[in-house]
Amino acid sequence: MTNVLVVGMGYVGLPLAMRAASVGHDVVGYDIDESRIALLAGGESYVEDVTAGELAAAISAGKFRPSADSSACANFDVAIIATPTPLRDGLPDLSYVESAARTLAPYTRPGATVIVESTSYPGTTQERVLPLIEEGSGLTAGVDFYIGYSPERIDPGNSIWTFTTTPKIVSGIDEGSLKAVRAFYDTVVDETVVVSSPREAELAKLIENTFRHVNIALVNELAIFAHELGIDVWEAIRAAATKPFGFMPFAPGPGVGGHCLPIDPSYLSWRVERALGRNFRFVELADDINSHMPDYVAHRLMLALNERGLPVKGARILLLGLAYKKNTGDARESPAVRVAQLLVGMGAQVRAADPHVVEPTAVDSTVTRVHVGPEELTSADAVVLLTDHDAFDYDEIVSQAHYFFDCRHRLSGANVEAL
Ligand SMILES: NC(=O)c1ccc[n+]([C@@H]2O[C@H](COP(=O)([O-])OP(=O)(O)OC[C@H]3O[C@@H](n4cnc5c(N)ncnc54)[C@H](O)[C@@H]3O)[C@@H](O)[C@H]2O)c1
Repeated sequence: MTNVLVVGMGYVGLPLAMRAASVGHDVVGYDIDESRIALLAGGESYVEDVTAGELAAAISAGKFRPSADSSACANFDVAIIATPTPLRDGLPDLSYVESAARTLAPYTRPGATVIVESTSYPGTTQERVLPLIEEGSGLTAGVDFYIGYSPERIDPGNSIWTFTTTPKIVSGIDEGSLKAVRAFYDTVVDETVVVSSPREAELAKLIENTFRHVNIALVNELAIFAHELGIDVWEAIRAAATKPFGFMPFAPGPGVGGHCLPIDPSYLSWRVERALGRNFRFVELADDINSHMPDYVAHRLMLALNERGLPVKGARILLLGLAYKKNTGDARESPAVRVAQLLVGMGAQVRAADPHVVEPTAVDSTVTRVHVGPEELTSADAVVLLTDHDAFDYDEIVSQAHYFFDCRHRLSGANVEAL
């Protein structure tokens, strides 16, 4: 089989490494974060979709070697870059992708394949990664080594559409590169989808995320207006979704979070602005609406407490969920964290329960982390559902809470108010 190197052992890189090891490749997982590598080496997973058993099996079979030592990058046949692509001061930060490229460049041998999986704007693979590999290896792309882009579509917590069953877009800078990239993914996923160059593959990923971002913004703005008009937006969306064609339902909520929706569309708007001098208005509008949803949640909560003769200051508020997505422990860019910050800023006594979030969050110093139980529920002036994890006992919650503000439309009852 093939020597596979995965650079970046995160939500994307680790599941890919596990899958590659399980089909028989010899996989090195390289990461600069020594604490993550130590966890992996000890058989501990910090990514929901990878179990400790799976990890331990791959390590003991000698198929997976986690390492924080760059010399472990030597001898790869296929290297995949899965490092972060955040925003820094609102602008794309490709430093992690570029440093990954610099690390693996000297180990790139003739005949090897380099694949970028990190989400980025169209042109990244050819304009930013390729030159660094050429420079560090002394080789020529398309002549001595292959290079391409394949976006990740991983959906943490989704048991139906897994890494293996979700079709994977593949691309290369030329025919040989496409062939090499496709040949690798054909060993790990059920279906590969070919596009003509890395730029189309890079754009495809950004279209997917921008589509979600814009549609979520649409229903969020609708939810605000429908509430003021006295119309049940949730019922209206459910009714619209009975149309068997030309409509896809999206759910309102307290905002968007995670590593993708609040960030990726900005990569696209930045590229459009940089290359064409024009504004990508849909992205800007969606950003504006979605990023203000936590303010709207705090405002609605303030009105609800006011109805009960209570100021926010000093009110005891129990938040259910800190993760940005149900049934996951990822609180990065989570709107729930922003809601907590706003309420703390108004002087509320904020408590939060999230059985999935184990890594530290930005509100740990000001918010008391608790387990949901009768005592917590009955002593809260308001209980707010921000992330509708299946692990919460909703019957208990609705029967004990005095007032329940449901941002996910999970419950009904006299004491329940929906977003
Ligand atoms: N999380 C998702 O669901 C998801 C889905 C699709 C695409 N993506 C994209 O995939 C990329 C990776 O995202 P993620 O969620 O896996 O990130 P992550 O933060 O979970 O993991 C990235 C890892 O890369 C490591 N790293 C950073 N610089 C490095 C370097 N120079 N060399 C080696 N390792 C390095 C970090 O220590 C970290 O462990 C991003 O571009 C993201 O937008 C993420």
